[in-house]
Amino acid sequence: MDVKISPSILNCDFGHLADELEKISNADFVHVDIMDNHFVPNLALGLPIFEAAAQATSVPLDAHLMIENPDRWAPAYAEAGAASVTFHAEACQAPLRLARELRAQGARAGLALKPASPIEPYLDILNEFDMILIMTVEPGFGGQSFIETMMPKVTRTRRAIEAAGLDVWIQVDGGISRSTIEQAAAAGANNFVAGSAVFRAEDAYAEVEKLRELAAG
Ligand code: DX5
Ligand code: ZN
Repeated sequence: MDVKISPSILNCDFGHLADELEKISNADFVHVDIMDNHFVPNLALGLPIFEAAAQATSVPLDAHLMIENPDRWAPAYAEAGAASVTFHAEACQAPLRLARELRAQGARAGLALKPASPIEPYLDILNEFDMILIMTVEPGFGGQSFIETMMPKVTRTRRAIEAAGLDVWIQVDGGISRSTIEQAAAAGANNFVAGSAVFRAEDAYAEVEKLRELAAG
């Protein structure tokens, strides 16, 4: 399975955004966390920063929308050039309609699940999505500890994808580091978001390579 490393810029130095993005030019995606202080208890980023990031890097952008009413806002991120737009199942009124709209715009459509949300209601409609994001922390903040008990959900999702013969990616987000990425990969994830592990490392570029190597096994 093709491994993708997607560093999260949530806690990067926004005063030097272009330099921060340059450090991770070897990433597969740049993960941009959008928070509205309603869906999650934090306010972070939005379209203007997203557009600035799109200008500053040639790495494809992966928007993670932790917002209410993604039905209303998600298409604007695809419009702004997101390669992938992921919205939360818990916040979305019409996930199939939104996923189809994003795909029609040329973006990959991702469905995200908070730790307590089951994958089972979505198992018959996996073909509607390009990626399932299984949160490995409660969304809202960087630097939290990896919730290991999410691994069975990753494995059940991987099995269902394989059984249906689909090419849907599984992303994990939260607490991914050198010490957790291998178990997430073994469980069936192939797209790894890492915020603090990358941006707190002395050499972000080398850390992306290291994580990719560990995930590939
Ligand atoms: C958390 C965000 C994450 C966060 C990950 O709600 O969705 O993308 O930036 O940060 P780390 O890797 O530090 O857990
Ligand atoms: Zn995220």
